[in-house]
Amino acid sequence: MSSHNPLHPIPHPPRKPFVGNLLSIGSDSPVLDMWKIAQELGGIYWLDMPGMPVIVVSSPELVDEICDEKRFDKSTRGALRRLRAASHGLFTSDTDEPTWSKPHNILLANFSQRAMQAYHPMMLDIAEQLVTKWERLNFDDEVDVTRDMTALTLDTIGLCGFGYRFNSFYREGFHPFVDAMVRTLETVQDRRGLPLEEFMMKKQLAQQRKDIRFMHKMVENIIRERRESGADIAAKPDLLSYMIAGVDKKSGEKLDDKMIRDECIEFLIAGHETTSGLLSFATYFLIKNPHVLAEARAEVDSVLGTDLSARPTYAQVNRLQYIQQVLKEALRMYPTAPAISKRALEDTVIGGQYTIKKKNMVIMHALALHRDKTVWGEDANEFNPEHFSREAERALPPNAFKPFGNGQRACIGRQFAMQEAVLTLAMVLQRFELIDHDDYQLKVKEALTIKPEGFRIKVKPRETVRSRAPVAGQAVAATDGAAAQPAASTAASKHGTPLLVLHGSNLGTAEDLARQIAEEGEQRGFAVELASLDDFAGNLPTSGAVAIVSASYNGVAPDNAAGFWNWVKSTDASMAGVRFSVFGCGNRDWAATYQVVPRSIDERLDALGGERVHARGEGDAREDMDGAFQAWSSALWPAFARALKLKLDADGPRTEPLFAFDIVPPAGVPSPAVAQGFTKLEVAVNEELQNEVEGLVDARSTRHIEFLLPEGVSYR
Ligand code: HEM
Ligand SMILES: Cc1cc2nc3c(=O)[nH]c(=O)nc-3n(C[C@H](O)[C@H](O)[C@H](O)COP(=O)(O)O)c2cc1C
Repeated sequence: MSSHNPLHPIPHPPRKPFVGNLLSIGSDSPVLDMWKIAQELGGIYWLDMPGMPVIVVSSPELVDEICDEKRFDKSTRGALRRLRAASHGLFTSDTDEPTWSKPHNILLANFSQRAMQAYHPMMLDIAEQLVTKWERLNFDDEVDVTRDMTALTLDTIGLCGFGYRFNSFYREGFHPFVDAMVRTLETVQDRRGLPLEEFMMKKQLAQQRKDIRFMHKMVENIIRERRESGADIAAKPDLLSYMIAGVDKKSGEKLDDKMIRDECIEFLIAGHETTSGLLSFATYFLIKNPHVLAEARAEVDSVLGTDLSARPTYAQVNRLQYIQQVLKEALRMYPTAPAISKRALEDTVIGGQYTIKKKNMVIMHALALHRDKTVWGEDANEFNPEHFSREAERALPPNAFKPFGNGQRACIGRQFAMQEAVLTLAMVLQRFELIDHDDYQLKVKEALTIKPEGFRIKVKPRETVRSRAPVAGQAVAATDGAAAQPAASTAASKHGTPLLVLHGSNLGTAEDLARQIAEEGEQRGFAVELASLDDFAGNLPTSGAVAIVSASYNGVAPDNAAGFWNWVKSTDASMAGVRFSVFGCGNRDWAATYQVVPRSIDERLDALGGERVHARGEGDAREDMDGAFQAWSSALWPAFARALKLKLDADGPRTEPLFAFDIVPPAGVPSPAVAQGFTKLEVAVNEELQNEVEGLVDARSTRHIEFLLPEGVSYR
């Protein structure tokens, strides 16, 4: 057996003389064909393809090993390398090339959760164009869902990327740039490295050269125009401004014009089809699952309301938890970038028996991985957003869900994509009934990405939604989630105990929180010093206390904490006398490396004999980071006081309210709520259900609340 199988014991499907497995994989359905073979042969097999064997991996245990960045990296062999003729940037570069590291270092900050706020108005602008188009359709007009979602995502990345309007909702087809880009991608995909290919594809390749010249020229003009206009980031907060102004902290260099041009093209390539496919699959699954649609719509109505004149805010979009679950579940069923190429850094063995050579190409098949019943249960092939309830998501093995790739080469635009998709889906559900008039049967179209083909529906404005003017004179006090904080008016008496506040932060979140601790510490009478973690590598004080706030980036420390992290992991120096507490800023989207850095700092300091005076806190940027931080920091001060034998004012510095409240309206004039038929209720029970987990402060609160219904009122 093994003599016929050079990669024994890795199984393989039957091969044909000369062509090997070339015909086992259709050129228009490679991903689905590979999935089919995985169902027959299991979580690892290999294909005999022209020029090299390709190993396809999809079992969770083996994928876990492939995701180890010390052993495997992204491979750009094949289509990605051929794409470099059009653009050689983040997406198509090898990890050791400056065309990856420089733009990666410069642009990371512009894809953080916080940065999304600046893109929100632009995303909203384009989403409004989509719903306006749909609102103006006649009752018998069809919507080509995939076409319109592609228009939306392309126009969004055009506007957020470089302030360019493709205006896809105002033309019959697409902008000529898009035609050139799509043709280029198709040609790249059609090539298979066969002998005589260049000769046989002569005409197609000549067209590709013409298309690439056109794309280059157009983007070069946009860059020149931006440089000449002198507009700065404040005037145009888009990626192009950041690319022109940004400096790579590591090399101290800026991006040259060729790099900027190539990045613009790559963002268009990487950033539009994937998200449009996601929105199209999500719409498909919603119309086929009415109970999920009803739940999603109920959430949208309760968060966005039914007043269509009120534009969704950034904070509201972040509150749409169930919509996020729907989108993640769509990405699980059909990850729109489903096959990710990897290579071993050295010859290695996975699963204890399968040899992977440096020269082999490995495909991590995310679609097959996402259907594994041992992880997702018996309903792995069914659409069920409960697979991503908060609890279920927390229980997932680290590398079970990989729609955005892996590690430092994972998708830089994932938060951008999710923000855009949640906003769009919510606005669609808020406004329209979706009608599956043709009983659409899913057909998946494959190119560089996958999407539903020929997916047409009808839409009808919802009758229950009316544009409502706000009630006259109604004062709305609450802003987006930010409750008015009382202003501290008087500082506590100064006792001068040292408090060192350290942060590990690239984009400012951890630094902001550290600054808040420092300010509050001062108000509570401490002698405070605020610094980066690296400033105190190997040098933690034993007098007073140390508060640490740190983020993680792809499982490693932020730039200003790398030295500290390396030191704390390797030192065996005693930390006796160091009184510390740690708060971590993280994001569960990076499930495998969630909170890795703050957790390991906390564990190391404890293991080396430091005194953990208050349990580590965790904030998740996808959830309520500020709430988690408030809960952790409010318990921090009593803990410091106990450890340092200080008498701190239990409630913090003496405060006076910043605002005075008057009860309005005066007696006799009905309040707007009463006028709208609201009834006052008495709260009978209000109990906290969450227990504090030992060693960890979880800020989430779940309360059991019971109301007493007044006489004569029944529950509806
Ligand atoms: C649902 C939407 C999206 C999905 C499923 C997705 C998926 C992926 C995947 C799997 C990779 C890794 C590719 C590899 O390892 O070869 C990747 C990389 C990348 N994506 Fe996305 N993506 C999405 C949206 C976006 C958006 C909206 C942008 C831009 C705004 C973007 C920009 C990029 C870039 C620049 C890379 C290369 C990153 C690097 O290598 O450092 N993606 N994406
Ligand atoms: C590219 C990238 C990678 C990230 N990797 C991780 C990670 O591995 N683990 C984690 O818990 N959070 C991760 N996050 C989330 C950040 O740690 C989180 O957003 C944090 O609040 C950022 O803090 P900062 O603004 O102080 O840098 C990542 C964020 C980005 C943009």
